[in-house]
Amino acid sequence: MSKSILVTGGAGFIGSHYIRYLLRQYPDIEIWNLDALTYSGNLYNLKDVEKDERYHFIHANLCKQEDVSALFEHQKIDEVVHFAAESHVDRSIYGATPFIETNIKGTFHLLEASLKADVQKFVHVSTDEVYGSFPVGMAVEDTLLAPKNPYSASKASSDLLCLSYQHTYGMPVVISRCTNNYGPNQYPEKLIPFSIKNLLCDKPIPIYGDGKQQRDWIHVYDHCRGLDLIRQGGREGEIYHIGAENTVTNFEIALKLLEIMDKPNTLIDHVQDRLGHDVRYALDTQKIRKELQFQPSISFAEGLKDTVYWYLEHEDWWDTVRNPYQVEEK
Ligand SMILES: NC(=O)c1ccc[n+]([C@@H]2O[C@H](COP(=O)([O-])OP(=O)(O)OC[C@H]3O[C@@H](n4cnc5c(N)ncnc54)[C@H](O)[C@@H]3O)[C@@H](O)[C@H]2O)c1
Repeated sequence: MSKSILVTGGAGFIGSHYIRYLLRQYPDIEIWNLDALTYSGNLYNLKDVEKDERYHFIHANLCKQEDVSALFEHQKIDEVVHFAAESHVDRSIYGATPFIETNIKGTFHLLEASLKADVQKFVHVSTDEVYGSFPVGMAVEDTLLAPKNPYSASKASSDLLCLSYQHTYGMPVVISRCTNNYGPNQYPEKLIPFSIKNLLCDKPIPIYGDGKQQRDWIHVYDHCRGLDLIRQGGREGEIYHIGAENTVTNFEIALKLLEIMDKPNTLIDHVQDRLGHDVRYALDTQKIRKELQFQPSISFAEGLKDTVYWYLEHEDWWDTVRNPYQVEEK
């Protein structure tokens, strides 16, 4: 095997797509998927690759330093791609502890072990939310961080921790910051799968406030492509934005889903807005486009339709999803 890559959080939404992407792209790669299998971790997401000899699952928790060290002691790891995190803003508002534990302390444990093991690359997967709300214009990679909720603050903290290891110890850290992802296998607490789940049984889609919050949406497959360009060619100590520059409001998404699923607009239910809700995120993605020749390949119209059909056709997957979080019941 030419390279051994540790993927953390590989049983989750984006991590599972990334593992599949790596296995398809590189015949001579070995992958270690470290995942604690929290509520959103689902090994069923990787059912199609679980028997692949190049793929190994490690049930471990980043919050336990000994779990992390044990893997590095027993296995030579060349590169790390770090997805594992608590990632739902609403959950962070109702209880920030696991966000501080996993996103900050867990990242610290992983950095320490990776430093000792002298890894050749450490890709930290982050988010556009670290810049906070951006009413006009676009954030560039050195825009001041201004996270506004416990989730984004914990991600911003982990970004800074990663950069400090690059600066202090010369660790080969690269950071990606991506916009909102959609696609198959996403835990149904996020807007798109949550809405599809409700529409499947003719329940209303709860839309926060006026629904005018704007997000840039990228298909998870394109996020994985961008991440892999960063893993291979991203410069150490640098941050790269990944996005589709395709900004849509939450209300527009609800309308598109109703149209694709042939449901009436009366199923939109405006509910009380999220506390401190960021109005708009917008990333400038020129750097990755120019430096690493990244271009998104899936249009939102095409990707959203395919995504809806995927959820409609995968009852087997729904059966494996644990404790869906009922935002509208809060
Ligand atoms: N979903 C998005 O739109 C989006 C956008 C930009 C960036 N990101 C970032 O991408 C990453 C993955 O997001 P996702 O949407 O796939 O999340 P997810 O919730 O689907 O997956 C997270 C995974 O991490 C695992 N995990 C959580 N705590 C852990 C711990 N302490 N130890 C080991 N494993 C643990 C979970 O079991 C799960 O498999 C996160 O870092 C997130 O901040 C997500």
